[in-house]
Amino acid sequence: MASFLHQGDCTLIPVNLEDPNEITELLRQRKICGWNYERSSIEQWNSEINDGTRSMFWITALIREDVVKAGHIALASTCSPPDPELADPDKSVMTISTFFILPEHRGLGLGRDTMDVVESLATREPYGAPHCRAIVVDTLDRRYWELDEEGWRGWWAKWGQPTPEKGRSNEDWYRRRGYIKFKERPKYTNDLKGNAQGGAEEGGRLLIASYLRKELQ
Ligand SMILES: CC(C)(COP(=O)(O)OP(=O)(O)OC[C@H]1O[C@@H](n2cnc3c(N)ncnc32)[C@H](O)[C@@H]1OP(=O)(O)O)[C@@H](O)C(=O)NCCC(=O)NCCS
Repeated sequence: MASFLHQGDCTLIPVNLEDPNEITELLRQRKICGWNYERSSIEQWNSEINDGTRSMFWITALIREDVVKAGHIALASTCSPPDPELADPDKSVMTISTFFILPEHRGLGLGRDTMDVVESLATREPYGAPHCRAIVVDTLDRRYWELDEEGWRGWWAKWGQPTPEKGRSNEDWYRRRGYIKFKERPKYTNDLKGNAQGGAEEGGRLLIASYLRKELQ
């Protein structure tokens, strides 16, 4: 394995979305994550991998003497709908998407090691390009963790989810890595973990995503 795909205890291995076993495992992890767990997403990602606009990896680690697929991550030069501020086909701005570590493997430093690797891949062909100047990521707004209001922190209980601890939002995690918020917009359907199917229609709104950016050069 090329050493630039390795950091600490973590090795990134390109996914093979032609392999039925890998598809099954990815769908399983996506279902636990709560978004983009349909076969149509897999087909879309596979065509983007084949046309060179997406690199997607298993986050693997040796845990208790087993090599496990602890999660997955993608680095892309396109997004839907197209927006060069988020992902530029010329690879000057790359976006991190579908980043997920299985809950049982969190807190081991794998997330941090994965980001170190992916940030270095952004300026490395064929994944990124030497002229890549920024990485963008979007995640659920930190106010769903921090703001004691019905539409924010109250959202979890309303949809039958455990309310998360304050100070543990993914947005704060990215901020600590040097990502700076530059915009927000309604994005995520209200079907986290499949427990609130139809919620977007019932609630009449999408959950707010924060967009964060890290300058590379
Ligand atoms: C955010 C995430 C990637 C972190 O991965 P991880 O492997 O648990 O993180 P690490 O172990 O590398 O954490 C590094 C540091 O951040 C801290 N940390 C971990 N998760 C954190 C969180 N959610 N908020 C704040 N701090 C966190 C760790 O305690 C550790 O701190 P330290 O350096 O002081 O010891 C992981 O929790 C995750 O996948 N979350 C879900 C992401 C998601 O919902 N994606 C949307 C669907 S694709």
